[in-house]
Amino acid sequence: MTTDTDYGQGDNRQGGVGRNIDVDVATQELRRRRRTWIGEAWDSNVGKKIAVALTGIVLVGYVVLHMIGNLTALLGAGEAASGGAQIDEYGHWLREFGTPLLPAETFLWAVRVFLLASLVVHVVGVYQLTMRNRAARPAGFPARRIGRSWSARTMRLTGPLLLAFIVFHILHFTVLAVDVTPLAHGEIYSNIHGAFQKWYFVVLYVAAVAALGYHLRHGVWSLFQTLGIDTPARNAYLRHGATALTVFVVVGFWMVPISFATGALPEPVTGPNAPTEVSK
Ligand code: HEM
Repeated sequence: MTTDTDYGQGDNRQGGVGRNIDVDVATQELRRRRRTWIGEAWDSNVGKKIAVALTGIVLVGYVVLHMIGNLTALLGAGEAASGGAQIDEYGHWLREFGTPLLPAETFLWAVRVFLLASLVVHVVGVYQLTMRNRAARPAGFPARRIGRSWSARTMRLTGPLLLAFIVFHILHFTVLAVDVTPLAHGEIYSNIHGAFQKWYFVVLYVAAVAALGYHLRHGVWSLFQTLGIDTPARNAYLRHGATALTVFVVVGFWMVPISFATGALPEPVTGPNAPTEVSK
């Protein structure tokens, strides 16, 4: 039974601590409303998974285009008089894309910034999801789950390896800082020809592309699941599709170092690795 005193205490609570609680709730609600939907989505596990999947699509897109671009190396060294290899022309075209409307390299830098932002969101998203999963796992729950494919288990290994490779690779062929073999700006054919005369660069690039293959195979597969594309009826097609894309990318990338290393491609006619150096 309640008494006057009880009501009194109840009122007091409402007017004192209770009011503070109301203010806290109102502040939180205001903060919640002020937050953008992007921030809220990023906070949720589903939102993070979607961000990882969408940035994954951007990165896969880049990797496919880069591989196709690299295949222009297979067109050979070209003629010194006409400016050398097709791949050098392709690189030049990329740097000049958008001119004279935009200053040279503007488009290239826009793509680089977009790619870097995608890579950061992808890596941070995966890292945070991993940490949340670990925190949510009950003590004594086996770290290894039975029935997962080898590429699924190696994601956490191939991811950091790829990251390390990308840093090295940019320093090697874009910044031209790993000048174990002679390198020069704009002389892509000559640069890669020189590098792939060294067995250790061939091994490194072939191994990195193999790691990319494992990462891609499972990444594309997970992406289908996250985006809800996977259904029992489509399952087999999607699995085969992910494998076919991976084989296409891996074989395409591998062809370049292997063709140079085996001497299937001619020596450069321009750049620092040309037998008689001819600069453009
Ligand atoms: C055999 C394999 C590969 C070869 C021969 C190769 C070759 C090259 C070359 C020559 C460049 C510099 C292009 C220029 O100077 O304009 C470059 C840049 C780059 N590559 Fe690769 N690449 C290979 C594999 C990869 C892989 C597997 C990735 C990613 C996982 C990758 C990511 C990049 C990135 C991010 C850049 C910087 C692009 C820029 O400068 O804007 N490459 N690559």
